Amino acid sequence: MAKDVVDQVVERLRALVDDEVGVSYGELGLVGPVTSKLRRLSATLHYVGGAPEVTEQLQAQVDAAVADLGNVVVELVPLDPAGQAELRERLMTPLMREARSSRTPVFSLPGAKTRVIGVSSGKGGVGKSSVTANVATELARRGQRVGVLDADVYGFSIPKLLGLRSMPRVIDDLILPPKAFGVKVISLGFFVEEDTPVIWRGPMLHKTIEQFLVDVLWGELDYLLVDMPPGTGDVALSLQQFLPRSEIFVVTTPQSAAVRVAQRSALAAKKLKLPVRGVIENMSAFVTPNGERYAIFGSGGGQSLANELGVELLGEIPLTMALREGGDGGTPVVVGTPDDLASESVRTLVDKLESLGPVRRYRSDLKVQAK
Ligand SMILES: Nc1ncnc2c1ncn2[C@@H]1O[C@H](COP(=O)(O)OP(=O)(O)OP(=O)(O)O)[C@@H](O)[C@H]1O
Ligand SMILES: [Mg+2]
Repeated sequence: MAKDVVDQVVERLRALVDDEVGVSYGELGLVGPVTSKLRRLSATLHYVGGAPEVTEQLQAQVDAAVADLGNVVVELVPLDPAGQAELRERLMTPLMREARSSRTPVFSLPGAKTRVIGVSSGKGGVGKSSVTANVATELARRGQRVGVLDADVYGFSIPKLLGLRSMPRVIDDLILPPKAFGVKVISLGFFVEEDTPVIWRGPMLHKTIEQFLVDVLWGELDYLLVDMPPGTGDVALSLQQFLPRSEIFVVTTPQSAAVRVAQRSALAAKKLKLPVRGVIENMSAFVTPNGERYAIFGSGGGQSLANELGVELLGEIPLTMALREGGDGGTPVVVGTPDDLASESVRTLVDKLESLGPVRRYRSDLKVQAK
């Protein structure tokens, strides 16, 4: 068999990329030698196993890559523990080594560029997770590198909202977050059965959040969105400790009762010295598919909360059927029904979020000397 066909097989296998790892198989050294026997080429490709859906995708990628090269058989071989340990070493950056040895998230090390955004609400059911999922998806659609940490350990819902079916894979002791709509996700939902109530002791919760931040291969991110549990409990404290550079965005409905509770969570964030950067009003009005508006939960709550907190009202997302259906079906409305009014509002909100830019941090030890 012509040598250039062998070269082409190698080249095409080397060019394949594991989307969740984000590095080509060639660079990772996972392409085995190609041998030729009786007009048939055989190759081996090592991969990170543990998620059948991902393996299926890889198989399809491989088949497509070599389809026009004749009789080529590529055997997919999951990495054994020694291979995984070797791969983990290759993937570790100096920053990650520092993060893991100090048990500090890379996002909190000096010089980190990731904007960490905590999405918080006073009470449950105001649409915090739906907002997080849609904002993350819209940011990813704009080419940003986005991760979502579902820190709502009592009511995790991000995997479902993003239609994630595959589980996180592990590379030795690194957790590889699965990706949907370009967004990397880690959630307790991957690790416990959906209907199992989780009873947390404070230290266990703290440890889990630490693991989700430090032992997950997030890679370089522009944004890490954190879906926080409603209220002002232990998780907020853990986040403040692990991610002191977080910016907080508060979600509320227009209803005055919801606004009062939201205000409490904003004040708690301030107490933790986390800057509240903006308010997002959700369920602003119900908009029928024909475009009629009904202010079911009243109006003006988001603006008055923003005024009280001295921050901007970043968005008013209406109640729409498409948003709810998108969430239930696992395709965020910004992707599934981009011309829905809720999608428009999410885009406006993301415009504002981006233009707001990261929070400025002043170093109290640096003083400008007046002449
Ligand atoms: N703008 C909207 N239009 C229509 N339905 C919405 C809207 N926002 C949220 N919902 C629906 O309301 C329900 C609650 O939303 P979601 O789960 O996002 O809220 P949450 O604040 O994260 O709740 P929890 O406190 O349970 O975590 C979901 O069924 C969701 O589909
Ligand atoms: Mg939620």
